Amino acid sequence: MGEPDLGPLDLAVARLAAERAVTGRVGPSTQVPGSYRLLDRTGPVAGGRPVATPSGRWTITNEPNTGGTAVVTGASSGIGEAAARHLTAAGFDVVLGARRVDRIDAIAAELPRARAIALDVTDQASVDAFCTEVGDCRVLVNNAGGALGLEPIAQADEENWRQMWETNVMGTLRMTRALLDRLIASGDGLVINIGSVASFERYPGGAGYNAAKSAERAITDVLRMELLGKPVRVSEIDPGMVETAFSLVRFGGDEDRAAAVYAGVDALRADDIAECITFVATRPSHVDIDEMIVRPRDQARAHMVHRRKPESDS
Ligand SMILES: NC(=O)c1ccc[n+]([C@@H]2O[C@H](COP(=O)([O-])OP(=O)(O)OC[C@H]3O[C@@H](n4cnc5c(N)ncnc54)[C@H](OP(=O)(O)O)[C@@H]3O)[C@@H](O)[C@H]2O)c1
Repeated sequence: MGEPDLGPLDLAVARLAAERAVTGRVGPSTQVPGSYRLLDRTGPVAGGRPVATPSGRWTITNEPNTGGTAVVTGASSGIGEAAARHLTAAGFDVVLGARRVDRIDAIAAELPRARAIALDVTDQASVDAFCTEVGDCRVLVNNAGGALGLEPIAQADEENWRQMWETNVMGTLRMTRALLDRLIASGDGLVINIGSVASFERYPGGAGYNAAKSAERAITDVLRMELLGKPVRVSEIDPGMVETAFSLVRFGGDEDRAAAVYAGVDALRADDIAECITFVATRPSHVDIDEMIVRPRDQARAHMVHRRKPESDS
């Protein structure tokens, strides 16, 4: 077989390949590491990377891998809200989903290129309506979820367990299933599941939440295997203690009980996790951050926390 004709983009690839000391033949299927910006979603991909073609449908840059639509579930507060803000700042068009529409409307109104759409991840009809309105999708952040109750198994509240399963597990499944074709079609898709250290560090009273986050972890792991060879990365970020409305929700609105969780602890802020989400999302297409565990310095295990006494800074 003779040498293929080299188009302008192939020549650019060749130059980059030489600069980066990448070995291999330069031709229509040459791939080089780096960041890629997608110009035309119909461009071919192989192994999760754009393939250089003479038609020049891809451009290769050293800029952060950003752009396209990022969907954030549970974006009405805490980590999801912060993620929407950081992803927008990084250059994504963000779609915020949550049940409290007034809150996501107000947040989206503050942000460039952001939209708010009502979403209840426990309701398939709501997921379908949301995804129809979303359109194209390149990044999905499955963040909606949380814990309900801290009762020991002997006093377990079945409704709480069901609800935790519905949001953290079934919600992640429904959203991922609904958007998967679009994530693949984007040519450079990414799913980020917000798990928890509770998925692998169980604690008394935590069984319902531990079980749900463990199941979400199983989804992350299996999805990565099932998508091997497709242009979609799959990541999980497992936070330790983050000071959000998480404990207020867990304890049914009991403010004193929620405040006691964070008393004397320099907990993570929602922005800390949003920065991690944005870091994962902006890696070059060939870099899959499988798993990121992030805790406050004051936390060694889910239930091992260093608390400062009042008036002390040690
Ligand atoms: N805070 C922590 O210490 C911590 C640690 C590890 C992991 N996480 C995980 O981080 C994620 C975010 O929690 P957070 O700390 O940011 O708590 P948060 O402030 O309570 O936020 C939870 C978000 O989930 C949304 N949500 C709940 N049920 C939903 C449903 N059925 N459909 C759509 N959205 C729903 C809520 O929105 P609406 O109520 O408006 O629907 C809210 O935006 C959760 O998955 C949580 O398990 C948190």
